Amino acid sequence: MNLILMGLPGAGKGTQAEKIVEKYEIPHISTGDMFRLAIKEGTELGQKAKSYMDEGALVPDEVTIGIVQERLNKDDCQKGFLLDGFPRTLAQAEALDDLLSNMNRSIDFVLHVDVAKEKLVERLTGRRICPKCGTTYHVVFNPPEVEGVCDKDGETLIQREDDQPSTVSNRLEVNLEQTQPMLDFYADKGDLVTINGSQEIDKVFSDIDEKLKTIS
Ligand code: AP5
Ligand code: ZN
Repeated sequence: MNLILMGLPGAGKGTQAEKIVEKYEIPHISTGDMFRLAIKEGTELGQKAKSYMDEGALVPDEVTIGIVQERLNKDDCQKGFLLDGFPRTLAQAEALDDLLSNMNRSIDFVLHVDVAKEKLVERLTGRRICPKCGTTYHVVFNPPEVEGVCDKDGETLIQREDDQPSTVSNRLEVNLEQTQPMLDFYADKGDLVTINGSQEIDKVFSDIDEKLKTIS
């Protein structure tokens, strides 16, 4: 099962990705998570990505395409993969196409989690994450059992640096601009599936799952 999960910042990609990879046991490849890990570990990649991410800008295509190529060549991707947050520009989509055809592979579905942009600011500024296990919560829409504490490991939840209101508006603008040409690209290929991401989290997942069940 080879999948792409697409959507504006805050659309719910990470939230749905957790559920998809748990059920279908495929690796979750999130470029955002890869960059955040690299920043935490202080690697060269992290140094390259940090200034862009802090401003809510996109990391340059050549850097991003390079890390995805490396990741897709790992053994665990033989059984399939879920790309989350990649591709995010038309150039990345075209590069992925070349990469997959060289590997004799193709995408089953591009799941576009569609949410009206007015809702996204509230989702992003209310998001809290667990620094230990990466689980995502929301102070109103998906709160933990005990306020500010991860259900799974008791760790204190934190806010992502790029979820500050000033950065959020730039992230949304940059991504809005890049998204439509990519949606057109995948619609032309016949791979695009639009999911209504404004519904409750479990309903969004059941709509995604209905589609995934059709892949044999
Ligand atoms: P990345 O980490 O990919 O961030 P993003 O695309 O901005 O998306 P988010 O993680 O913010 O949102 P999400 O859709 O996963 O939403 P979530 O499930 O958390 O990228 C970060 C940065 O890295 C980029 O800005 C860029 O600099 C760089 N980067 C990454 N990939 C790149 C690429 N390919 N090219 C160039 N640069 C790249 O949900 C959000 C909140 O809403 C949560 O609190 C959640 O609990 C809540 N929520 C989720 N679903 C629902 C629902 N149905 N109803 C109510 N609340 C919900
Ligand atoms: Zn945790």
